[in-house]
Amino acid sequence: MAHQSGRHFLQIPGPTNVPDRILRAMAKPTIDHRGPEFAQLTFEVLEGLKQILKTSGTAVVYPSSGIGAWEASLVNTLSPGDRILMFETGFFATQWKNVAVRLGLEVDFFPGDWRHGVDPNAAESKLMEDRKQSIKAVAVVHNETSTGVTSRIAGVRQAMDRAKHPALLMVDTISSLASIDYSQDEWGVDVTIGCSQKGLMLPPGLGLNGISEKALAVSKSAKLPRSYWDWEAMISLNRSGFFPYTPATNLLFGLRESLRMLKEEGLENVFGRHRRLGEATRVAVKAWELELLCQNPEEYSSSLTAVLMPQGYDADAFRKLVLARFNMSLGNGLGKLAGKVFRIGHLGDFNDLMLAGTLGGIEMGLSLAKVPFSKGGVMAAMDYLAAH
Ligand SMILES: Cc1ncc(COP(=O)(O)O)c(C=O)c1O
Repeated sequence: MAHQSGRHFLQIPGPTNVPDRILRAMAKPTIDHRGPEFAQLTFEVLEGLKQILKTSGTAVVYPSSGIGAWEASLVNTLSPGDRILMFETGFFATQWKNVAVRLGLEVDFFPGDWRHGVDPNAAESKLMEDRKQSIKAVAVVHNETSTGVTSRIAGVRQAMDRAKHPALLMVDTISSLASIDYSQDEWGVDVTIGCSQKGLMLPPGLGLNGISEKALAVSKSAKLPRSYWDWEAMISLNRSGFFPYTPATNLLFGLRESLRMLKEEGLENVFGRHRRLGEATRVAVKAWELELLCQNPEEYSSSLTAVLMPQGYDADAFRKLVLARFNMSLGNGLGKLAGKVFRIGHLGDFNDLMLAGTLGGIEMGLSLAKVPFSKGGVMAAMDYLAAH
């Protein structure tokens, strides 16, 4: 590949751009993970994560990707053959369902069109039908990274309460945590699933669970086999600041820095920044007269936007051109959306000028790829940013 000067634009919806401050925090000699300095690190990151999750429950961090944290949520709380209600909001919800099936759970997979989030009324009817209360968990992806649709978790909680159903509520916040408002305790979530490489602005490599007291109590009698993911072993050693195995020390240095940065900015300001950049992105897409994949404005995602390519135009060929000409990576269409959409990541360490550059690369790319569109998206987004 020819030399490209300047910085690469990593505008996929995770992994996101890692701020220099976090890179520097990780570029330190690895310390003894059984020594006193390490224990302080553990205490600080677990406390900080609880603040991000908005919970007084328990947080655990694994050396893993997000899928590991999915598996942890299931194996710690369920037994072979348990029923679980899941919703087909997109590629990632489908993948999580596949994990549940492989683990021997019986999944009720509520169908969806990959353009809408979870309908709380549908959740309520499914739970009302379950008179014997045999459904043990309801599992929802908060922000579907494959579609740019954010489900309303508080609404799902209310639906469960209206149905007076005791199932656990599990939420994947992999592309919403520290980008889109989320409140584990207030929304009565029992298990939160997250990971490092999105709103937390870290490289991939850490998975996490937020655990309610109810989930912890249920885990005592859950019978799915577990070893590496076992909450009990983890929580018991975390109490003294240690792990049941070698933790990802330098990623935890990075996590400590990330949590400090989020605190300095203020979590509500972080959410506001994402909302504004998400809206500016949609202003551009509308000015281009291209179609958003998300069909419900109440469910627009603040962390990414999925854009449908006009019929007959290949989204992957467009992305390839943008990468070659402008050194920018955009997200691809996943599963049945392959070639049909491109995704713009606007989460993590991101600001107005980075968005202007991102949209500029897309607008030039659309022209070069001879995609039918209207010019002026970048200008419309800039006007929006200047006015808000
Ligand atoms: C919503 C969601 N869930 C789960 C995953 C899987 O996470 P990982 O690839 O880190 O295992 C992703 C990855 O992008 C995701 O966006």
